[in-house]
Amino acid sequence: MAVAIDLSGKRGVIFGVANQRSIAWAISERLIEAGAELAFTYLNDRLRGPVEKTVSALDDPLLIECDATDDGDVQSVYDQIGEKWGTIDFVVHSVAYAERDDLGGDFSTTGRQGFRTALETSAYTLMPVVSRAVPLMPDGGAALTMTFDASQRVYPGYNIMGTAKAALENEVRQLAAEFGERNIRVNAISAGPLPTLAARSIPGFRDMTRAHRDRSPLKRNITHQEVGNTALFLLSEMSSGITGAIIPVDAGYGIIAL
Ligand SMILES: NC(=O)c1ccc[n+]([C@@H]2O[C@H](COP(=O)([O-])OP(=O)(O)OC[C@H]3O[C@@H](n4cnc5c(N)ncnc54)[C@H](O)[C@@H]3O)[C@@H](O)[C@H]2O)c1
Repeated sequence: MAVAIDLSGKRGVIFGVANQRSIAWAISERLIEAGAELAFTYLNDRLRGPVEKTVSALDDPLLIECDATDDGDVQSVYDQIGEKWGTIDFVVHSVAYAERDDLGGDFSTTGRQGFRTALETSAYTLMPVVSRAVPLMPDGGAALTMTFDASQRVYPGYNIMGTAKAALENEVRQLAAEFGERNIRVNAISAGPLPTLAARSIPGFRDMTRAHRDRSPLKRNITHQEVGNTALFLLSEMSSGITGAIIPVDAGYGIIAL
């Protein structure tokens, strides 16, 4: 008998929808299908329109502006959600940014400021996004972030984002250890390449996609939906024994050496 994951009555906050191709939106669609109620943050005024359009089929969802590098913004998100809902069950962090000049070229020439920007936006922000959600999760909950194999192996062009993903994955383990006693689980999905706004700024993204398709055991690229499905599992009680894990959704590419 098929067992469906039911998230009715569950609520969560999604950081990182920019448009319909955002991984955060693919995850959201799956969570909504499973019955969850969601609130969304958007980076700035410029993205409000595209995000409103993306979520337009939903019935008056909560949309809150938030630059995740601003702790006051993150706190204000949770204050507003606390007022409206009282508690939440999960949070999705699907946020990354690096200066275009720091993607591609020689890694060793990455500037100090570019390093700070990439690490602060793509790695540090997981800490306030998770820790400030904790008071809204008195009975436990789940957090999920998005990473990439470049945390472990070198992908030409990905440069400083590889460093940021390595830091992010380490945070996943440390946050999982810290909040485990409160029954708050913290995990990451390491996704294969997907065409999104952020991916477009990575030089060599097409080569990356081709290599994954040609060399992965499944001999194809992954889909947005496959990430959404795994996210649904990781944010539900079906994964109650999993925390601090980096789960690959990569068609198996990560196991192949040659
Ligand atoms: N697309 C891929 O191939 C791929 C593969 C593995 C992992 N990822 C990761 O998935 C996550 C989502 O990226 P995506 O590919 O869906 O692209 P995307 O551009 O749709 O999403 C990135 C999001 O980060 C947000 N963001 C950037 N700076 C921010 C800030 N200061 N505060 C708040 N939000 C901010 C953007 O507004 C955007 O919504 C990223 O962490 C990315 O590294 C992507």
